[in-house]
Amino acid sequence: MSPSPNPTPAKKISIIGAGAIGGMFGGLIKRNHPDIDVVMIARGEHLRTMQQNGTVELRGKWGSVSVPVTASSEPNAVEGSDLILFTVKTQDTRETAERFASSIGSATVVSLQNGINQRILSQILPADRLLVGMTATNMGVIAPGVIQCTRRGMSVIGPASPEVPHTVVEQARRLLDSSGLPVASSDAILGVQYNKLLFNTMGYASVLSATDFLRDGILNQNWRNSVAMPILEEGFRVLHAAGITVENACGGSDVLRFRRLMKILNLPCLDTIVRGVAQGPLHPPKLVFSVYQDLMRNRPTEIDYVNGEIVRLADEVGVPAPYNSKVVRMVHELERATEKHFHSREQIAKHFRELTGKQR
Ligand SMILES: NC(=O)c1ccc[n+]([C@@H]2O[C@H](COP(=O)([O-])OP(=O)(O)OC[C@H]3O[C@@H](n4cnc5c(N)ncnc54)[C@H](OP(=O)(O)O)[C@@H]3O)[C@@H](O)[C@H]2O)c1
Repeated sequence: MSPSPNPTPAKKISIIGAGAIGGMFGGLIKRNHPDIDVVMIARGEHLRTMQQNGTVELRGKWGSVSVPVTASSEPNAVEGSDLILFTVKTQDTRETAERFASSIGSATVVSLQNGINQRILSQILPADRLLVGMTATNMGVIAPGVIQCTRRGMSVIGPASPEVPHTVVEQARRLLDSSGLPVASSDAILGVQYNKLLFNTMGYASVLSATDFLRDGILNQNWRNSVAMPILEEGFRVLHAAGITVENACGGSDVLRFRRLMKILNLPCLDTIVRGVAQGPLHPPKLVFSVYQDLMRNRPTEIDYVNGEIVRLADEVGVPAPYNSKVVRMVHELERATEKHFHSREQIAKHFRELTGKQR
């Protein structure tokens, strides 16, 4: 793709947490708009490689490109930014935001993290410049300084509070969209975030048995009805009690439609077809959840901010959340284990059926 005109007056953008998601967005914006300064805030070997090379390597359907970037770990490197993309893992949010707050100045900050990070960020950063969102893309840092795009999904951003002017949202959206990865905006961003979060509550449960979420999870009647459905229904109950409505922005994956689909898959007339798809050569793409990658690398997962967010909200509104609590507990057990022994899919389904028995 040849460089195109800068879609906004932005001269400098910084990525705080320039790993998979942030590094890819920042790198693609730099590739498309060489006149914008892009600063990658990272650490460890990934940072050192970007500093030594002066570039980040981006791999995707376009092949491989090396894009010139400035890489640093120092807060003062982000000073003077027009836009900051905030993409550290959720557990690093508070510490990182506090460390960088005074250097962020009047920049617009966009969090594209999983979880509902505005709870923390709004305590630290100016409310009238804070945007949050979700992304259905799938990226990974496959080697220090090398980021791979495995799925180009829709990303949606929106104002974390009514104090953010509409023009600020639109400028940020245009800038991120100029990466070539589609970005939409929504005024109901909290509902959009919870829509994605409910998908992840089921996906993170599939990690307990290292099960491929769609092919071996959702298409398996036992796992679908014993594990996925109860987790999702519980999520809906908790959100309903909290007065939160899920929103599906811009034709992205809709968790309400997904619930209907899971029910339809139980129709006896579809059983043979579903089994055929699950066992046949035509199968849905494998989704690798970050919880799985984090467990395999012996790193803390984001479980407390996904299934744990439903548990937290349930406590707040006085509704039980035994299924999501169980996922949180079991993922923490796996986090603590030095050797990762995943359960079988049938064991997990049995645990959840026992839980359902106790609820009755
Ligand atoms: N990857 C995806 O496909 C995807 C999709 C949807 C949503 N998300 C969400 O996006 C967020 C970011 O995910 P990700 O996969 O991009 O994570 P990631 O690859 O781990 O990137 C985060 C980067 O921030 C760095 N970092 C953390 N604290 C820092 C600090 N204080 N100073 C400098 N660097 C720091 C990390 O370094 P270390 O590696 O040393 O910790 C890492 O390089 C998460 O909330 C995730 O759930 C990701």
